[in-house]
Amino acid sequence: MRITVRVPATSANLGPGFDCFGLALELCNEVTVDTDAAPGILWEGEGASELPVDGSDLISATMRQVAGDRELPAFSLHAIDRVPLARGLGSSSTAVVAGAAAALGLLGDDPSMQRVFMHAAAIEGHPDNAAPACFGGFTIATPGGLVRRLDPHPDLRPVVLVPEHTRLPTDEARQALPDVVARNDAVFNVAHAALAVEAFTRDPSLLADALHDRLHQDARLQLVPEVREVFEAVRAAGVPVCVSGAGPSLLAFPDDERELPETRSGWRLLSPGLRTSGFEIDVE
Ligand code: HSE
Repeated sequence: MRITVRVPATSANLGPGFDCFGLALELCNEVTVDTDAAPGILWEGEGASELPVDGSDLISATMRQVAGDRELPAFSLHAIDRVPLARGLGSSSTAVVAGAAAALGLLGDDPSMQRVFMHAAAIEGHPDNAAPACFGGFTIATPGGLVRRLDPHPDLRPVVLVPEHTRLPTDEARQALPDVVARNDAVFNVAHAALAVEAFTRDPSLLADALHDRLHQDARLQLVPEVREVFEAVRAAGVPVCVSGAGPSLLAFPDDERELPETRSGWRLLSPGLRTSGFEIDVE
């Protein structure tokens, strides 16, 4: 049996929707497991030289966890990674979703979006990344596991600004956040998150206002001053911008009237387009 899973990159939080909002991007990691090939692990693309080949990687670990007491057949694993690692684009989520879907497929269980999502959200702990990776589009995930997928407005043109030499592990980026927030900051985020739903789905002209946040972005940008500088330059140019996931990448939405300021060296710009569907799985 040969199973190929393609999982999209995701941008979580989207400004005020901390731990809730996510957007799927048309940039996919592709994972193939093959029970007829000699067992082994082969990485290609982003981070290929730094990923382990002893089975301790996140895809293999997820497959074992999803299988639980059931035994998986021996298989070869081949991944083509296009999503930059540890940059706030949901690369871990792609691994967990691919691992969960592949394991369910190998075990003969239905790898439905909902089932894969339940496993991925539980294993990775970030439903705001797992939701768009599974369902595509713009997603709202509650801490209790309820998800709604909405169609993002087709005029949105996401551009991801990836700092080539800066990484920010999610754990570190979370430790920088205060445990308690002021009520006026909580109210600020509730209002802007509500506005962001309208902006992402119906009226992109609201985005520049809607992406403001007081729960996480400032604390995270303080950890990466070179990113903060670019964030401020993009915002000063009137382009809607937010920190992508836990950072350090930025997600911006230029349009015909508001262009991104000139790119600095050390930054990679990706224009992946919106992805309206979630992961895909082929079983042969
Ligand atoms: N919502 C999570 C965070 C996403 O911001 O920490 C992690 O990718």
